[in-house]
Amino acid sequence: MGKIPQEIIDRILDKLDIVEVVSEYLPLKAAGRSFKACCPFHNEKTPSFVVSPDKQIFHCFGCNAGGNVIGFVMKHENLSFPEAIEMMAGRAGLEIPRTSGADDGTSSLVKQLYEANNTAAEYYQEKLGTPEAKGALDYLRQRGLNAETMKEFRIGYAPDGWENLQKYCKKKNISADILRKAGLSVKSDKGRNDYDRFRNRITFPIFNERGNIVAFGARIMTDSQPKYLNSPETTVYSKSGILYGLNFSKTAIREEGRVLIVEGYMDVIIPYQNDIRNVVATSGTALTARQVALLKKYTDTAVVVFDADQAGEAASLRGLDILIANGLTVYIAALPEGEDPDSFVRGCSGEAFRKVIGRAKDLFDYKLDLLLRKFSGSGIIERAKVVNEMLPTIVKVTNAVIQSAYLEKLASRLKLNEAALRKEMSKVKADYSFKYEEKTRVSSIPGNYRNSEIYLLGLAVLDKDMYDTMAGEMGLDMFIDETVKKVMFLLRDFYRSEKGPAAGKILSRLEDDENAKEAVLRGIAKADITGDKDKVLFDCIAHIRKENMEYELKNLTTKLKHAEAVRDQSAVNELLARINRLHKEKVT
Ligand code: CTP
Ligand code: MN
Repeated sequence: MGKIPQEIIDRILDKLDIVEVVSEYLPLKAAGRSFKACCPFHNEKTPSFVVSPDKQIFHCFGCNAGGNVIGFVMKHENLSFPEAIEMMAGRAGLEIPRTSGADDGTSSLVKQLYEANNTAAEYYQEKLGTPEAKGALDYLRQRGLNAETMKEFRIGYAPDGWENLQKYCKKKNISADILRKAGLSVKSDKGRNDYDRFRNRITFPIFNERGNIVAFGARIMTDSQPKYLNSPETTVYSKSGILYGLNFSKTAIREEGRVLIVEGYMDVIIPYQNDIRNVVATSGTALTARQVALLKKYTDTAVVVFDADQAGEAASLRGLDILIANGLTVYIAALPEGEDPDSFVRGCSGEAFRKVIGRAKDLFDYKLDLLLRKFSGSGIIERAKVVNEMLPTIVKVTNAVIQSAYLEKLASRLKLNEAALRKEMSKVKADYSFKYEEKTRVSSIPGNYRNSEIYLLGLAVLDKDMYDTMAGEMGLDMFIDETVKKVMFLLRDFYRSEKGPAAGKILSRLEDDENAKEAVLRGIAKADITGDKDKVLFDCIAHIRKENMEYELKNLTTKLKHAEAVRDQSAVNELLARINRLHKEKVT
């Protein structure tokens, strides 16, 4: 299908009512001006999924899923964007004009990278069936994989040699440039040919949540190093945003109401082959906020599987606070020493593994027991050490009732005064709470938005008047975050021709930009629940203006020093004048 004109998407959005469409999937209940239901995208008992007829969007306050009617259908029916558009256009009685041939959506880089990876996977799979892969196949069999599993996980073999994959891809019309961008081939120096990254290794495609191949992990069949060679970070692959196996396990995670978090590829695959399917792997790194956000769409409970060594170290538990901070309930399951899920399931059985999971302990209890064993003396210093380790975890618990229960328990197990603990906790807490002020001007972490910017974004999307006020008070260039800025400019263009509501339509204009969509939803969620919207609006504007001014002052001061150093009197004068003006502006 060709690229779908924005105008058609807008007309679909105009014709369809999100409440009507969603209510065909879920029982919606009226709640004020909105409608509520239990979220279909994660497990919950009290409804936090809200559909707004005014804004024509849905949003789940539990798992943060959100979007317009097209987004809802995509998610619920597991459709691609063009598929959902087609379905919704049919429903709205609209024809989709097709632009022919070349500018078919497949020309985008992302699609080309998926295609290159997919072609590579095809090639490697094919190779696994040839005589030269005998060693690889024997190795996989010896590790207990059956043919069906190999096929499902699309495991393959990258043959020895420097240009095998490149030759194959050339025949399939995949350019050398794309292969490089996909990380499948590596550029040589001195004008020599590129070479294949993966050679004489078993290949595990790494899929994203939707099942597109974004990278490969490639294992050597001997004991040499490195054991796994992975694709580099590419346009479609960011290691910290991927959980291996999620595409296979997401349904089971939702059904079982919890996810098992393991470390390695084989720790997903072998349990899966033994009917334990709610498993994802971090691929050996510490859990990131983005990974947790992925999980939250499906469940609010995580069981982290450790081997005895890791499970015995408080330090390895610290990395799990990120799950707690995102509202998940966390359990720890400990395997016998030296075992990982792969070896344990193979050595014992899937059933035995299930039992270990069943005996998993609440992270809080687990950690406390561990620390009490470690600091066995009952002296005050020892108890304070336990408190020091426990409080940072407790402070991150999002549910106030649970948090309070943990504190109580900690006090009673340590025979300490609960009020004192509470006081100590409020000190720890101070490190986490912030209002509009932010520390660094430029955040290099995607999705790590500044409060003021995200509030303004939400307010501006919700209400054209708010947007107008904001645009009158400050330049859109004053936004620091590129994503926020991009949406603001889009919004400016949108409001030039329409009065709103903007939310649903802005989301549809951000089709490929997951970050931006997420920012819009986050902004709306925040702005929507603030009582005094005008005050927030002016506070945030003032904050941003002040910051921009301070930033500029700092720049000017640096320049001034420089001008003084080179004795450039006229520059010094000019800079001083500008600094003075800024100072005056600042106080008014
Ligand atoms: N890993 C990696 N690169 C390495 C080593 C490890 O990417 N050089 C990742 C892989 O995802 C691996 C996970 O970290 O699956 C866990 O590493 P490790 O425990 O060393 O390997 P196993 O998964 O046990 O590997 P295997 O069972 O194949 O020996
Ligand atoms: Mn292993």
